[in-house]
Amino acid sequence: MPVERQPEAMNKSGETSASEGSELDEEPADGRAPSLRQLYDTHDGKVSDKWPAYLAEYDRIFAQHRDRPVRILEIGVQNGGSLEILARYFPQAAMIVGCDIDPTCGTLRFDDDRIAVVVGDVNDDETERRIVGLAEQFDIVIDDGSHRSADIIRAFARYFPYVAQTGMYIVEDLHCSYWRDYEGGLYDPLSSLSFFKRLVDVINNEHWGLDLPGSQALAVFAEAHNVTFDDAQLASIHAVRFLNSLCIVAKRPTQENRLGARLVEGSVSAVAANMTPLKGTTSKAADQTGNPWSLGSIAGDEEIQTGRELRQKARIDALARDLVEAHSAKATEVEALRAELSAAWATRAGLEGKLAGREMEIRGLKDSTSWRMTAPLRVLSRCARRLLGNIRRP
Ligand SMILES: C[S@@+](CC[C@H](N)C(=O)[O-])C[C@H]1O[C@@H](n2cnc3c(N)ncnc32)[C@H](O)[C@@H]1O
Repeated sequence: MPVERQPEAMNKSGETSASEGSELDEEPADGRAPSLRQLYDTHDGKVSDKWPAYLAEYDRIFAQHRDRPVRILEIGVQNGGSLEILARYFPQAAMIVGCDIDPTCGTLRFDDDRIAVVVGDVNDDETERRIVGLAEQFDIVIDDGSHRSADIIRAFARYFPYVAQTGMYIVEDLHCSYWRDYEGGLYDPLSSLSFFKRLVDVINNEHWGLDLPGSQALAVFAEAHNVTFDDAQLASIHAVRFLNSLCIVAKRPTQENRLGARLVEGSVSAVAANMTPLKGTTSKAADQTGNPWSLGSIAGDEEIQTGRELRQKARIDALARDLVEAHSAKATEVEALRAELSAAWATRAGLEGKLAGREMEIRGLKDSTSWRMTAPLRVLSRCARRLLGNIRRP
């Protein structure tokens, strides 16, 4: 969930009609496993922050995994509530890994030893190494991290290869993709949503009529975010499903993602005759190399260039802002140090004055008649001290 989510929004999103509410508040009395929504509604542990629309969808798509030893990765832990709830939802889960950049998440303690938290930037090599050290593959990956386009796309490039053959990669809170602060905008050609929409072309790579790999459709994103997309991995994308703010990318063995051999069944062809020979054939796209719409990118190079320039400008503006802030913080620090230094100089001058006064006093004392007259007494006292010292020594 985005950081700005307000408590009112949460309350609002949790509102249900009276009858719906009473149903949801209770766990099923007939022994059926509780739905995810029911687990959320009755949850009393660490806080989790989710939109209700996700939970209804998760109940549908997680059903197949519910009683399996699933391995789950959630990017974005925050208070850790979603990890606790997922552990209850999947009683047979083998491993539930949460990753968060916030070091405070490292202090979270869970009663369930199937839950582990990795602290670090999810797009850092070392973090990736620690995550995949806990589970080599994941049946479900949920990205509920920064919600920034670059982070989302880079995390997908990094972790989709670890999704198991029948697993899924879910990205939450894609409404942020429409907002500038999250590196997006309605028609931003490089936003996270533009990226996931482009996966539709990847799925249909065999129909392009161009001798190009699926990764070609993602080339602008690869370049913009300095990542690579493996074509074998892309060929394992079975479906891309969009719901409000949510995208689910399902993985399947490559052969299940092809259109396959045509089925022409039945014996009566009253409208289109002679269909039978098509049986068993595969779709063959005509060559599209001369098709102007097959050249360049969907968004058009100009738009992408503009997008890139706008992004660079936003980055420069942010850097300039940071620089001004850092400069004024440093100026305040220097000012404080200067004040400290001049106070130290004043103290030093005061002490030097006192020292000079004392020296004058001592000099005056030594020049005095009484000091000179009592000199023999001081010599005698020194001798006596030495003598006494020798006597006491065994
Ligand atoms: C919306 S919260 C997660 C909420 C949690 N999944 C839940 O359901 O309650 C987003 C979290 O993502 C973390 N985050 C932001 N950028 C990240 C990054 N690059 N890598 C890992 N975690 C990140 C933030 O520190 C924050 O705790």
